[in-house]
Amino acid sequence: MLPLIVDTDTGSDDAVALLLAAASGLGDIRAVTTVAGNVPLATGTRNALISLEVAGRDDIPVHPGCECPMTRMLSTAQHVHGHDGMGDISLPAPVRDAQPEHAVDVLLNYPHRHPGELTLVTLGPLTNLAVALLRDRELLGRYRHVYCMAGAADMRGNISATAEFNVWADPEAARVVLESATPEQVTWIGWDVSRKDAVMTPADQLWLEQLGTPMATFAHRVNRTLAEWAQAVTGLAGYDLPDPVAMAVALRPELIAEQEQAYVGVSLGQDTRGQLIIDRRRCAPAPNVTLVRRVDEQGFKQLLFDTCAPEGHR
Ligand code: RIB
Ligand code: CA
Repeated sequence: MLPLIVDTDTGSDDAVALLLAAASGLGDIRAVTTVAGNVPLATGTRNALISLEVAGRDDIPVHPGCECPMTRMLSTAQHVHGHDGMGDISLPAPVRDAQPEHAVDVLLNYPHRHPGELTLVTLGPLTNLAVALLRDRELLGRYRHVYCMAGAADMRGNISATAEFNVWADPEAARVVLESATPEQVTWIGWDVSRKDAVMTPADQLWLEQLGTPMATFAHRVNRTLAEWAQAVTGLAGYDLPDPVAMAVALRPELIAEQEQAYVGVSLGQDTRGQLIIDRRRCAPAPNVTLVRRVDEQGFKQLLFDTCAPEGHR
């Protein structure tokens, strides 16, 4: 099992990613850290606690982090995931509280205690990781690997014409991470991957719902608002699952069908805020990230269904 730290802005797709990490049998979550993004920090923290309870893992500590981007005002995605980030289906409150240690301290301290052992998966704006990097520029290399659901390598955005939400929400944080990264340390899984290889069609949604387990029902119901938004805005054949496909890549890197190493920057501009700038010229700086471009769609969906299936049907 893969020792993990998960940094999340727990909206409804993050919740499914947490189920994969906690209940697939592939992940060993040591801590969850939360960051403002999809929803305000307190709401995302609540959603992380709820999701871990659904996965049967209310032993995993949850640590709140930064409640706003590094320099900008917080712009949430509640129009996508619902006011509560979980489809507004009146989920019961979590039975336990978050931990007092700040998320940034967790991101800094855990890899010092377990050098080279932990995999970090980020599912929201990169604010916590960037603030930690301002305190330890070598932090990325202290992890076994860092996977980020971040950006859109094809410049086709979801929150704007060219930007993906996690990078758009805190582009300065994304820049700090990109300026500290190497392709050997950091892998980015962008919205272009989710849009192509992680779209839950109506048939997939029905399959998930009919599994009938508490996790399957939860995963289906919390994405109610996401499904409505996707149908109205994206033109995709269903709703896509960016965080779960990024988590699946971290848990099973063999699901990567296509990847490249590239030098990636990020625009801080007004109209192009959060757009990735990928320099493939011969004179470009050395690559700084590994970009996943395609994933084995069936393998990803099978992992999701197996995780949510009744015991004995996996
Ligand atoms: O652009 C997709 C990302 O933005 C996902 O992490 C989703 O949860 C939202 O935070
Ligand atoms: Ca997210």
